[in-house]
Order: sequence, then C-alpha cells, then structure tokens
Amino acid sequence: MENQSAILLCVTKLREEEQLIIEHLNRLGVTVQVNLDSMDLPVGKSVVPPYGLALIRCLSQKNALSRSKLLELAGFETLNSARVISICTNKIHQAIVFEKHGIPQPRFQVAFTPAKLYDALSDFGDLCVIKPATSSWGRGIARMTGKECLEGWIAARESVDPSHQSFPVLVQEYVEKGDYDIRVVIVGRKPIAAFRRVSAENWKTNTHLGAEIEPIEINSEIAAICGDLVGVLGEGIYGADLFFDYQQLRYVVCEVNQNPEFAKSWKVHGVDVAYHIAEYVKEKIGSTNEANLTVNS
Ligand SMILES: Nc1ncnc2c1ncn2[C@@H]1O[C@H](COP(=O)(O)OP(=O)(O)O)[C@@H](O)[C@H]1O
Ligand SMILES: [Mg+2]
Repeated sequence: MENQSAILLCVTKLREEEQLIIEHLNRLGVTVQVNLDSMDLPVGKSVVPPYGLALIRCLSQKNALSRSKLLELAGFETLNSARVISICTNKIHQAIVFEKHGIPQPRFQVAFTPAKLYDALSDFGDLCVIKPATSSWGRGIARMTGKECLEGWIAARESVDPSHQSFPVLVQEYVEKGDYDIRVVIVGRKPIAAFRRVSAENWKTNTHLGAEIEPIEINSEIAAICGDLVGVLGEGIYGADLFFDYQQLRYVVCEVNQNPEFAKSWKVHGVDVAYHIAEYVKEKIGSTNEANLTVNS
C-alpha cells in the first residue's frame, strides 16, 4: 500500500490557487485537511493529528503569522516557517535583514517620526517612496515628489493617526525601473518562473493595479539573487519582487512575499506553480517522516 501522508492547509478561503494545490497533492497521494481562519487549530490537544506539516496560505498576513506561530509551538512544521512569515510580512524587518546579509536593495531609511521623513526625502534627492511596514497589493505605498507632497502625506496621516501609531515606516529611494518590475516565484530552493509586471500608467506595477504579465527567462543574475535570498531566508515558497535599476545597472530586491498568488499569472507564463508547490510539500513530508524514523529507531 502507498504510504499515506497528510497535511494541514491553513487558508482564509479556498481560492483557485489552493484548489489547484489540493488537486495536485491528492494526485501525489497526499491528503489535505483544510483549516479556515475561522476554525480551531489542532493545538493544546493530547490527540496527535495525522499530519506534521502545515501549509500556510492565509490571506491576512496577521493570521498567517499568528497561526504559524501557534502550530510551530505545538510541534508542527509550517511552510513557510513562522520566522520567514514574520520577516516577509514586515517590509522594515525585510530591509534590515537584507542589509545585514548584503542583499542588494534600494537605499532605505526607517523613519520613526514624521520629521525624519523630511531628512529621508532630502537624502534621496527629493524623490522617495514611503511604505507602511505591513501592506500588500500596492496599498499605502506612496511616492513623494517633493516637500509639499510630503507635507500633504503627513497632514493626511495626522488626521487619521494623530499620535503616529503607524510609525515607523520604510522610506526607499525611488528606483528608475522602467515601466515594470520582475516577479520571481521560488519554490524550495529554486526560482521556477519569472515575469515582468508592466504598467504604462502606474508606477506601482502590482497586477492587482492592472499591470500586464510578460514572461521572461531566469537569467544568471536573477538566479544568483534568488540563491542569496534562499541563503538568507531558508527554503520556502516566495514571490520575490525585483527591479532592474537602470541607473546602477543592477538588480535589486524590492520585497519578498510569503504567500504568492499565481492564479492569473501562471496562465500566461505556463509554469504550473501549484504542481511545483505540491511536489515540494510531498518532498518535505518525506524528509520529515524520514527524520522521525531515524529519531525513533
Ligand atoms: N523604491 C521603489 N522605486 C520604484 N518603484 C517602487 C519602489 N517600491 C515599490 N515600487 C513599486 O510599487 C509596487 C508595490 O511595492 P511593494 O513594495 O512591492 O509593495 P506591495 O507589498 O504593496 O506589493 C512595486 O511592485 C513597484 O512597482
Ligand atoms: Mg510587491
């Protein structure tokens, strides 16, 4: 009989991505127990569930973090790990970790007060990007084109957040990236797909904001950056956003996402991301089982 394996799949709702992953896992002989954000987690119970690995694909970054933490504390392996989710769901954490490990990224400053934003703006030549620590889909990301623009941003902020609870924020230099950024999907240790997200109208090139997808080759420089990212973060499932900086003529990392969407993009680039994720999960279960066997023997 085939070795029966099972995983827990933590989701907010079963989107097309998760349905595809489940189909592939089932085909590979892996049973999937779906756990919605609204459901209890199997923690603090004496009965050990028949799975040791939890795939975390919660939509809310807060839920992804809190649920992976609880599961890890209870002894489950989570994919991605709580450590990785904690780094990737906070743009300031990422910037600091990447700086420490020499990952190329836009020049940045962490601004703890509105006053510091003026210093950062002037350091970056009167053009910069302000980012809330936790955000996605381009939300809250704002380009400052001068002092008056920044005054407006601060005033708007103050009206909803008078005591500046939402500080610190990340400030980056504005990178001359052309009309696109590059999304690379990494599964395990390897980049499996790369595409440009092109937008003629919007400097924010999120697909949610209407950017078009253009598949590209994973060249040696992109592969090397991905290798470095995996070296720093560890194996996992990532959506890395890169820029080609046309002023410095090099690739830099804009941010790394821990729960990349692919339902729309894979239909264009043709790489079956769900299959790669399922294969990787299966491989992980195999190595977890092997480790347990070694410990128990
Ligand atoms: N420093 C920057 N210079 C130029 N464009 C940027 C910069 N930072 C972000 N962008 C643009 O804004 C988009 C969203 O920023 P990102 O940091 O990826 O946040 P999100 O988590 O919302 O996707 C990027 O895909 C890119 O097109
Ligand atoms: Mg992004």
